[in-house]
Amino acid sequence: MSAVDEEKRLAAEAAAALVQDGMCVGLGTGTTVAYLLPALAARRLRLRCVATSVATAEMAQRLGLPVEPFDSLDRLDIAIDGADQITPDGWLIKGGGGAHTREKVVAAAAERFVVIASSNKPVARLTPPVPLELLAFGLLATLRAVAPATLRDAPPSPDGGLIADHLGEIGDPADLAAQLDAVPGVVGHGLFPPALVTDVIIGRGAGVEHRSLD
Ligand code: A5P
Repeated sequence: MSAVDEEKRLAAEAAAALVQDGMCVGLGTGTTVAYLLPALAARRLRLRCVATSVATAEMAQRLGLPVEPFDSLDRLDIAIDGADQITPDGWLIKGGGGAHTREKVVAAAAERFVVIASSNKPVARLTPPVPLELLAFGLLATLRAVAPATLRDAPPSPDGGLIADHLGEIGDPADLAAQLDAVPGVVGHGLFPPALVTDVIIGRGAGVEHRSLD
C-alpha cells in the first residue's frame, strides 16, 4: 500500500470509530471512503445508511452495510466523506468524482460531518477547478454564465445533471459560492463552507490529526 493510501486508511478507520450503534450514517464517495466502508462494516453495528453515489451504495451493500434511498430519513447523525482540498479554516473543494451535489445534501443533513483525507489534501488556499453539476436544459447558456468553465467527459450524475468544472480564480470562496448559487442552471458546486464541517481527520505518516471545527 502506498504512503498516501495508508494515510487514507488511517483517517477512514478513525472516522469509522466515531460511529455508534443505531446511528443514521451518510456515506461519501471516493478512494478514501473506500477504506471507510470495510472499517465500518467490520464493527457490525446496527445502522441505517444512505450513500452519495451508486458506487458507494454497491460497495457498502457488498460489505453488508444496509443502504436505503435518501427519501425515508429527514436527518442523519453523521456523514463521513473525503475531499479534494481542505483549507485551514475548513473550506473544502469536493467533486473530483462528480458526486458533490449528493455529497452536499448528505453533509447538510448530518449533525456531524467528518472529512477524512490523506496529508496531501490540506492546502493554504483553494485553487481551481471547482466541480459543478449543471442542468442539461439551457446547458450552453449556463456554461456561459459560469465561464470560464468546461464540461467534463464524465457520465451524468444519478440525478441527470452534467458534470463540469469552473476554471476561474477562486478569490474569496464565499463570494464565488454565492455567485455560482445564483445561476439558475447550476444544480450544485463543489465549494463546501466551513459551517458544514464539524471534524477534519487527516492521516499523516503513521498517525492521524483530528481537528474539531465546532
Ligand atoms: C467525489 O465526488 C469527491 O467529492 C470525493 O469525495 C473527493 O474527490 C475525494 O476523493 P478521494 O477520497 O478519492 O480523494
